[in-house]
Order: sequence, then C-alpha cells, then structure tokens
Amino acid sequence: MSKSEHNLFELIDLKKDYVSGESELPVLRGVNLTLERRQISFIIGRSGSGKSTLLHLLGGLDQPTSGSVIFEGQTISEMDDDKLSKIRNRKIGFVFQFYHLLPELTLYENVMLPSLIHGKEDKVWVRELLKRVKLLSRQHHLPAELSGGEKQRAAIARALVNHPSVLLCDEPTGNLDSETADSVFTLLEDLNRSEGLALVIVTHDESLAWRYPNVFRMQDGLLHTAVRGNTVGKLKA
Ligand SMILES: Nc1ncnc2c1ncn2[C@@H]1O[C@H](COP(=O)(O)OP(=O)(O)OP(=O)(O)O)[C@@H](O)[C@H]1O
Ligand SMILES: [Mg+2]
Repeated sequence: MSKSEHNLFELIDLKKDYVSGESELPVLRGVNLTLERRQISFIIGRSGSGKSTLLHLLGGLDQPTSGSVIFEGQTISEMDDDKLSKIRNRKIGFVFQFYHLLPELTLYENVMLPSLIHGKEDKVWVRELLKRVKLLSRQHHLPAELSGGEKQRAAIARALVNHPSVLLCDEPTGNLDSETADSVFTLLEDLNRSEGLALVIVTHDESLAWRYPNVFRMQDGLLHTAVRGNTVGKLKA
C-alpha cells in the first residue's frame, strides 16, 4: 500500500493505566478507532474520562500501556524517541487550551521555531500563516501583549508551520468567549478545506461538536460513536 493510501490514524485495542505507587488507574480500556485523512473529528466526554490522555497518545506525547497507535501507516507507539520527535515536529500539530507560547519570543519567532528545529526555515510561509491568522501586524509583539484569541491564533499558526497532516486540539477554545471561539473554529475549518488539514478536537462544547458528522464520546474507558441526545451510542468497531 502506498503511503497516501494509509489512514490518518488507526488505534488498536489501546489501553492506558496510570500507575502511582501501589495504585493503578485504568483510563483507556481498549479503544479502537480509524480516522481518515482530512477528516474533522470531535471527542467529547466528562471531565476525567480520558480525552486528553487519548489525544496525548495520538500525538506520541505519551506511550500506551498496551495496544497500538498507527499514524499514516507507522506504528508510533513502538517508535524510539528520536524518530517520534521527528514525526511530532513535522507531521502532527498540537493546540492546547492555554496556548503554550514561549513568553520571551515574539509571535514571529514563536511561529518560526518548529521550522528551525526541522531545519527548513520558510520565511514566506511564516508570513503567509501570520496573514492567514490575521496577526501580521502583531508579528513583533510578545505573547503577553496579545488577547486570548490572538494567542490561540498564533498557536495555530505555529502548529502549522511544518505543514502537518493533522492538528490535535485539546479544548482549543475552552478559554475564549463564544464569539472569539467561533472565529478560531472558522479558521480551523478554512485550513481543513484549503490545506486538507485533518482536525481532532477535544471539546466540552457539545453544541459545537454536533455541527460535524464525526463525534466520539469517551465513556468508561471506551470511545463510542456519539449519538446526539444519548450518553452511550453504538460502539465503534
Ligand atoms: N499523568 C497522570 N498520572 C496519573 N493520573 C493521571 C495523569 N494524567 C491524567 N490522569 C488521570 O486520568 C484520568 C483521565 O484524565 P484526562 O486528563 O485524560 O481526562 P480529560 O477527559 O481530559 O478531563 P478534562 O475534561 O477535565 O480535561 C483522570 O482521572 C486523571 O486524574
Ligand atoms: Mg483534558
């Protein structure tokens, strides 16, 4: 199978227990999921149900207790750190609720940084991205000088600088008012359409998630295809 034919993600019987001292907390109990390239997917579920845990495993920020995470045909859950950090830098973008911009760097430098790590600095693309997120005029400002929505748009630009195939977003608008949140989602949708960027979005905002077809609910350690109005839907095979 050629590379372009692989699914974006395949999760196979994914389990995650957190161990601290004597106690073991099973969080994921056997998650199976297929996500296609360019797909927009939402993950909803109660606080503590394991949404962030799942997103971290998708992005190779943490390793599962058992099971596999296959990203574009490569089993990242078995990769060594070197190879994994390359894939994270080049193919997977992260967007978090609290932006995680480096405070001592300007917006321009924050957005540029992952491409320097990649060794492929592209000033034209950084400029284009800053334009896309409507922050070109603020490019020499520090994060502390920006509003929440502006910081989040900068974080999105940074996540895209190396042309990833997917953005993993953990409550990307959880800290924003609804109007600003809408503008961030419009931006993400535009990027999905224009760049073919896949999105996996964890949110507490179910009314937002229901605007899209692929909604999954974390519950009791499993991921279910969510059915509007039901807490438990059909189990995704
Ligand atoms: N590093 C860790 N060590 C031990 N337990 C952890 C760790 N990270 C998360 N947990 C526990 O695992 C469970 C799932 O956490 P997770 O952060 O994935 O939930 P969540 O669905 O993202 O919740 P929220 O909606 O509040 O962000 C919680 O009970 C949490 O306390
Ligand atoms: Mg979380």
